Amino acid sequence: MAAHPLSLLTPDEVVTTREVLAAAGELPEGASVVHIILAEPHKADLAAWSPGDPVHRRVTALVLPGAGLTMVELLVSVTDRRIEDRRVIEGMRPTLLFGESFLVICACLEHPDYIAALARRGITDLSNVQIDPWPAGSFGYGVEEGRRIARCITFLRETEDDNGYARPVEGVIVHADLGTGEVLEVIDHAPLGTDPIPLPPQGSRYTPEHVGTLRPDLRPISILQPDGPSFTVEDNEVRWQKWSLRLGWDPYEGLVLHQVAYTDTAPDGSERARSILHRASISEMVVPYGDPGEVQGWKNAFDAGEWGLGRMTQSLTLGCDCLGVIHYTDITMANEQGEPWVVPNAICMHEEDYGIGWKHVDLQTGRAEVRRSRRLVISHIATVGNYEYGFFWYLYLDGNIQLEVKLTGILSTQAVREGESSPYANPILPGLAAPVHQHLFCARLDLDVDGTDNRVEEVEAEVMPMGPHNPWGNAFRPKVTVLGRESEAKRETDSRTSRAWRVVNPSKLNHVGRPVGYKLVPTMSTPTLLAHPESSVGKRAGFARHNLWVTPYAPGEQRAAGDFPNQHEGGAGLPEWTAADRELDDTDVVLWYTFGVTHLPRPEDFPVMPVEYTGFLLAPFGFFERNPALDVPPSPPGACHDPGDCHT
Ligand code: CO
Repeated sequence: MAAHPLSLLTPDEVVTTREVLAAAGELPEGASVVHIILAEPHKADLAAWSPGDPVHRRVTALVLPGAGLTMVELLVSVTDRRIEDRRVIEGMRPTLLFGESFLVICACLEHPDYIAALARRGITDLSNVQIDPWPAGSFGYGVEEGRRIARCITFLRETEDDNGYARPVEGVIVHADLGTGEVLEVIDHAPLGTDPIPLPPQGSRYTPEHVGTLRPDLRPISILQPDGPSFTVEDNEVRWQKWSLRLGWDPYEGLVLHQVAYTDTAPDGSERARSILHRASISEMVVPYGDPGEVQGWKNAFDAGEWGLGRMTQSLTLGCDCLGVIHYTDITMANEQGEPWVVPNAICMHEEDYGIGWKHVDLQTGRAEVRRSRRLVISHIATVGNYEYGFFWYLYLDGNIQLEVKLTGILSTQAVREGESSPYANPILPGLAAPVHQHLFCARLDLDVDGTDNRVEEVEAEVMPMGPHNPWGNAFRPKVTVLGRESEAKRETDSRTSRAWRVVNPSKLNHVGRPVGYKLVPTMSTPTLLAHPESSVGKRAGFARHNLWVTPYAPGEQRAAGDFPNQHEGGAGLPEWTAADRELDDTDVVLWYTFGVTHLPRPEDFPVMPVEYTGFLLAPFGFFERNPALDVPPSPPGACHDPGDCHT
């Protein structure tokens, strides 16, 4: 039995769910289970729950009965072993399913038009052909209507373990029906009688046996934690250095942080856990490509909603993915048969030294005080097709919370005629180019700063005009603008003015009479969607048109592009919800922050991309009365080997 309403889903609960669904006739022959997700209790119910209370566990199951556009969503009480609610969803498409994707790959390989298109390009042995099914988007092709389809593109491997992305088979696109497993049409963009774009002449691999001499002079770095780590994990509750939180998981969002709180010591010495972040996750992400041509122009992928950052998560390995004393957490989801699907070592948790946390040398006395910074790292890595996304949440000793996304993996590529170039792609190797694209992540941040009645303020530096009050022209000051309604809270970053957004609790004043707060700080690059708002992806990824949106908390508003972005015509999610222009002041606010990178690929990004970083920071702003890391003890005597000691 689960110990807490937010305990992670267990294999037993998936088994029970499947039994309940099967007994009710909800799993007909040929049906697929799209997902089984823990139905998180509504916020008020969760707040009312205390340890020792009964735990009622419910899950949401999404079942796809057959080939069409009908799905059945069921709310199942695992505790009572019964279906509590049933809803038929018409006209929407689920995420791409693994089983169906595999079947259309097989269908391509047997289709005469596909075999002929490859033969025109000199490929007659199909044993090392790699077919990638892509989400199709919504472009008004006839085959899209009334169907769940994929657009399949092809790469050629020399051997089974080759890097296929070095040799795209350019110009061949297969439209396949995921429901029936049929090939609908094979489009060959090289007209008959013309020479197709040839395969790039050279391969490009990244495995150690293929990269030449490995550098011989890297000496070992060992992380020693002789007394173990400073955190504890009980069920899914993590405690570390005054922080507490619960780990959650979602097939689409991946890692979820619940109930992030910090235990503060009041002036009277009493301790209390102060809420900061009720729930944090990556709600959606989109990868739109910038080439307008018919061969590449349809490419875009909602890697959360169309594939699933949780579903694509891979197991991590000690000593390679993670160093030090690691706590791994296994994750349970449901496979497409509705059976338990456990990903071992999906979440990695460990502590990291992070250089200095603070320091000062008193130049009069010569006394140096320096403290080490340390962070708790909670991470997972999703492999979505050619790309890897590592999601690293960091908690720091000074009250900071950070999300860093590490982008790596392999570029999506296109073949070009040697000597020719595309304005929308950068050359990578002879005959090989990589189209420009963006990776735009939308974090959903349900902040509860010392409770749920919060307000969002935009804060930035305001330059004052020269005049009697600013005779030297140096004046600038903080400017605070309350974002009072949803229409006022669609905002972009501005590095020129250091623009950020502060979530405050107007009813909780700090020692200097200001409301306690946490500030969302843009770090690194913060592009918004470059595609035209009226374009297909512009409408479907409306969330990415602004860096910030703010909504009042509402159950069901969880995914920034809506629950079913696959082949959706657009407008769902944030644009739809915020059309009501709800009030935001003194309410339970949810911040939606879009960040990411605009990727203009370079040769160094191939054959595998060095990690590129993006993310954001949540920093306390008047939440504490002083530097909360002041009580971090100096390094022990003997740890410092400078003339003198580091704290004397
Ligand atoms: Co990229």
